[in-house]
Amino acid sequence: MSHVRLPLTSARPAQPLIGSVRVPGDKSISHRALMFAGLAVGETGITGLLEGEDVLRTAAAMRALGAEVVQDGPGAWRVAGRGIGGLREPADVLDMGNSGTAARLLCGILASHDLFAVMTGDASLRRRPMRRVTDPLQACGARFQARQGGRLPLAIQGARDALPIEYRLPVASAQVKSALLLAGLNAPGWTRIEEPEPTRDHSERMLRHFGAEVVVEQAGVGRIASVMGQPELRAADVAVPGDPSSAAFPLVAALIVPGSVVTIKGVGLNPLRTGLFATLREMGARLDIANERLEGGEPVGDVTATYTGLRGVDVPPKRAPSMIDEYPVLAVAAACATGPTRMRSLAELRVKESDRLSVTAAMLAVNGTRVEIDGDDLVVYGSSAAPSGGGLVETHMDHRMAMSALVLGLATAAPVGVDDAAFIDTSFPGFAALMRGLGADIA
Ligand code: S3P
Repeated sequence: MSHVRLPLTSARPAQPLIGSVRVPGDKSISHRALMFAGLAVGETGITGLLEGEDVLRTAAAMRALGAEVVQDGPGAWRVAGRGIGGLREPADVLDMGNSGTAARLLCGILASHDLFAVMTGDASLRRRPMRRVTDPLQACGARFQARQGGRLPLAIQGARDALPIEYRLPVASAQVKSALLLAGLNAPGWTRIEEPEPTRDHSERMLRHFGAEVVVEQAGVGRIASVMGQPELRAADVAVPGDPSSAAFPLVAALIVPGSVVTIKGVGLNPLRTGLFATLREMGARLDIANERLEGGEPVGDVTATYTGLRGVDVPPKRAPSMIDEYPVLAVAAACATGPTRMRSLAELRVKESDRLSVTAAMLAVNGTRVEIDGDDLVVYGSSAAPSGGGLVETHMDHRMAMSALVLGLATAAPVGVDDAAFIDTSFPGFAALMRGLGADIA
């Protein structure tokens, strides 16, 4: 992304937030749709694709690897795949921008293709750990060379005859699980990946949708996902649902601005993504779900948030994988709730687009909310009065921090500023306009 700093300020709106809108397509599903279609035989039509910077990086990378990727209209894309093992060597460095998902899943795909590739990303992505994928991927025969600490840029020599991998993830990560399953697509036999806790299963669902044999078994509190290698992936159209992680922002906004009623239509409701909704309900939020249906193997529905007033809660560690990207905006809700909220076991937040544990704490502190990092827990002391606001939030190249801060400013006594809102486009193009359409005061 050619980076132009875009400072924004949000202020308490004169009126409640009211309206019914759609949010852009799911980021996780959009990356996967482009990648899996690029590995399939035939032409896949995708509708509702997120056209954010992160996903456009994946589109460009799949093109550089030989897939034909064409945009037909807003959200409507066509991909002619190369078949499993059929990708060609990219002529230049693959730049994954700000996107950890794009970088890690692509490492998996490249690991079992006999080709050489170099991958880089922006300053945020170049700080993030990659060994969590490159270490286990070596078991298939791939070789990686990276900077100190396994950081990007990295060079990959994919395996000529990849071997299937059996691996137990040390941390719950859908990206790592997906990377390993993707590598297994071009290895003979079963690739078996055990996760300590269930994480988003979009890869498993979509692989089945494209015709792969995938088995998911319960293993204690975790799961084992297995894929049979070298299937013929067949092109299969994908309708991408609205991103629940994006819907989180206008929904939380409605829950902290008195009198608000906001509906988000067509939101993905995969149970491994809806931890925020469960937590908000425990806080006393009114969230109504209508028109629940299944679209392309993923549950979808319309979610309405009605302002009620919130109270603090204790968020258990096991909730984390199902709402891993929603803690910053949950912290905003907690700052506007009555009583303390403790969010437990958030070590993984330290390695997101920014160190979200520290950046979330700093966002609240600079806006007058008492907050504490206790080990890997975040404790937010909500008071019955609105937080004072008036702070400038440093977003550290992190889209979700920028959006969370702007949502906070809708409920604080004084406006809240962000130093840089440009990264919002990585996941939620049109965020400020959509929020203004609901009545938010964002300038
Ligand atoms: C994602 C998995 C999560 C999440 C990220 C998207 C995915 O990351 O934070 O935004 O699409 O698989 P981890 O696998 O690192 O937890």
